Order: sequence, then structure tokens, then C-alpha cells
Amino acid sequence: MSLDEAQTKIYVERTQRSRQLWETTRELIPTGHAGGMGAFAPHPIVVEHGKGCWLWDVDGNRYLDLRLGDWVLIHGHSDEDIRAAVHEQMGKMVQVGAPEWDLGHRMATLLVERTPSIEQVRFFVSGTDANACAIRLARGFTGRRKIAKAIGGYHGTSDPLVAGRSVLRGPDDILPLGVPPQAADEIVEFPYNDPDGAEEVLRRHGDQIAVLLVEPVMTAAGMIAATGDFLRRLRSVTEELGIVLVFDEVVTYPIAYGGAQTYFGVDPDLTTMGKAIGGGLPVSAVGGRRELMQLLEPDPSGERAAMSVMATFGGNSACLAAGIACLTKLTREAHTELAARGDRVRSHIDELGVRYGIPLHATGLGHLIGIHWGERVVDYDTRLRDDRDKVRNINLALDNLGYYQTFTGLFLLSTAIGDQEIDGFLGAFERSLQVLGYAD
Ligand SMILES: Cc1ncc(COP(=O)(O)O)c(C=O)c1O
Repeated sequence: MSLDEAQTKIYVERTQRSRQLWETTRELIPTGHAGGMGAFAPHPIVVEHGKGCWLWDVDGNRYLDLRLGDWVLIHGHSDEDIRAAVHEQMGKMVQVGAPEWDLGHRMATLLVERTPSIEQVRFFVSGTDANACAIRLARGFTGRRKIAKAIGGYHGTSDPLVAGRSVLRGPDDILPLGVPPQAADEIVEFPYNDPDGAEEVLRRHGDQIAVLLVEPVMTAAGMIAATGDFLRRLRSVTEELGIVLVFDEVVTYPIAYGGAQTYFGVDPDLTTMGKAIGGGLPVSAVGGRRELMQLLEPDPSGERAAMSVMATFGGNSACLAAGIACLTKLTREAHTELAARGDRVRSHIDELGVRYGIPLHATGLGHLIGIHWGERVVDYDTRLRDDRDKVRNINLALDNLGYYQTFTGLFLLSTAIGDQEIDGFLGAFERSLQVLGYAD
């Protein structure tokens, strides 16, 4: 990676305390990040606090937060309604072993009412847990073993889910350290946004595939939106071949009221959700067709083996209280506004590319935005040909101008961001191109 020298110097000078405190934490925690997410060059900022759409680092710099706690804080930091709900719940009970009334029922109702494909739900803590449950349900239902996933898709951190091609590693690096080769044998990869190519792979392995996991927008891979044709073809082929279709909406659920699936008008068999649905606290869920979800109930006849799916913190009361407050505020109007702002940002970035005659363009859908430099990115292969140095340098320059994001060209909008902040961001985006000498 080749970072712009002048921008690196500015960054290092204004984040010296961050560097020092990050190195202190790193003595105790590998990566220096409690959750271990992402490496940042030259070093990460260390955050002191957040409020609304703003974030302050330990050096006193203020940023517009476009990373949102790794794609979680759809209403920004310290949202008053979410805080009040959690506070009230903390005084009542936080965690119970017994069924409680009525948080689980209310949270389930919010998801079932919004998303026609979801008849029943079950709660977990992380997106990885939710996908593990969906895979087990599909394997139990079909009696098959393999997992089909899109080339470049990300679904969490369990062994089979990290095997295969990922933009997070080199193109030939299909088994991260510590993952056994059997994990690669469990997966079948198909090309994203290529209905014929995907169908061909699914027909070739169809009788072994239990489940097909797909993100309606490949998020970590670069906010690459699926086409409706692609998702519809996956729906019809999986139905024909008896494969359980899972939409991984861990990131995309806030794209539209009821999830990205309602935007595309395609109903999967199961949906996994996480991140934003907990309003900042850890909540994930699997939901879908009753026939599949019923496998989580013990078989009254005792003929079928029990399905072992447990989660101590699944349905934690404080987390559900936060999730209910969060989803309640995520009204149809809130979704419409978020999506309109997302469209405005994407089209402005595309216009900058045209205006300056550079191959800069934006991808994404709803509140999710990716930037790329090169031919239009529609799948893993086009994403690999992206000029990542350019993207990282734009990230660095934006950071120096007070706009915080992942270092990978991905931005999210929250309902806490207004038109004024969007104007500021778009102005800073153009300025970042100029200070880097990418535009005059
Ligand atoms: C699409 C998608 N699915 C699943 C996951 C895993 O979620 P978690 O990190 O909560 O396990 C992620 C995490 O980024 C994700 O982006």
C-alpha cells in the first residue's frame, strides 16, 4: 500500500495521543482494538466519545462518523430513545433464563410485521451466530451438507464462512490461518451478479447443497448491490433444487422497511439479521418460514434428533429493549429519507468522476455507500481490479478533513445525519481529491 506522504504526515501529527494509547492497549490486546476489527494505516484514531452523528478522538479532533460502530448505529451515538429504553430495562432486569414478557414478543412482532418472508424468529448475539443457526436449520431440513456462497461474500467468522475467496485477503489465499482444509470442502462458491454462472454452479452441485447464503448487497466486499435478476434467479433455482435460500441481511436490513428483500421483492426461506437491529447493543436474529423455524422446537414424537442451538445471551433483555427502541424509530419515512440521502451521495460521487475525467464511482444501496477507482465494480473480480491505493488515500484525506470511515472505501449514513452534514461531506470529498492531486 502506498499512502500519500503529505496526508500521512498531517494524520500522524494530529493523532499523536491516539498512537500512544493504541500502542499501550496493544500490549494487552492484539491489534489494540478490543473487538479486533480492521487494521488502519498508519495507525487508528482512538475514540473518546460519540454523540449523534459526531465522534471525538483522544486528541480532541471531531469527526462525522460514517463508520457507525462497524455498521451498527443507524440512529447515531447515544440516541435519546434507545438510551432511555436501556436505562429503564436495566432497572427491571437485564438477563433472565426464563421466558420473559414482553420484550421478545415485541421485537419478534416488529420483524414479522415488516418482513413478509419472516413468520418466526429466534435471537442471538452476533451475525456469525445467526448464520451458524441458519446453516444448521438448512442442513437439518435437507439432510445435505454443503454451503453455497457468493465469491467475495462475507458472512462471519466461523470456519466454513471464512474459507474461500475474500477481498480481505490475497486472491489465492482461500484458507486463513487456523482454518482446516475440510472447511473449504464444505463450501461451493458461485459468481455474484451472474445469474447464468451461478445457476450452472448450483446445478452441478445441487444434490449436495443444503443452503445458499447471499448478501443482497455484498457489503465488506465493497457495497456491491445485487441486481434484481440475479436474486430472482437464485430464488427460482434454489426452489427447484430444494436448497434453502438464506438472505444474509446482517448489514442490509436497514436498506428498506422490512429489509433489502422488500426492496427487491424477493422472499428468501430464511433471513439473518444483526448489527443495526440492536440499536447499538448486540442482537442478531434468524427468521423465516415456520416449517424451517419449527425445527428449533423439540419433536413431540421423539423420532427426530433434537436440534442443539443455544445462546446464553440470545434475547438478553437490555439488548432487546434497545432493539425495539431502534426499530420503532426506523419508520417507513426514516428509510425513505436515508435512501434519498444515500442516492444523493452516490450520484454526486459519480458526477465528480465524470467532471474530473477519473474512474471514480460509487456503489451501494440505501444508506450503504462504497467508492471505487477503476471499471464499474459489480462483483469480486471487478473489485479486485479496483485501485485500492487511490481509495485508501481518499479515506486518509477525508479523515484529515474530519470524516471518519473504514479504511476500505465504505461509508454508511445514519438518521442522525442531516442535509447540512451531507453537504459538508460532499464538499470535503471533492477537496480530498484536490489535495491528493487526483482532480484539479
Ligand atoms: C454480511 C455480514 N454477515 C455476517 C457478519 C458477521 O457478523 P458478526 O461480526 O456480528 O459476527 C458480518 C460482519 O461484518 C457481515 O458483514
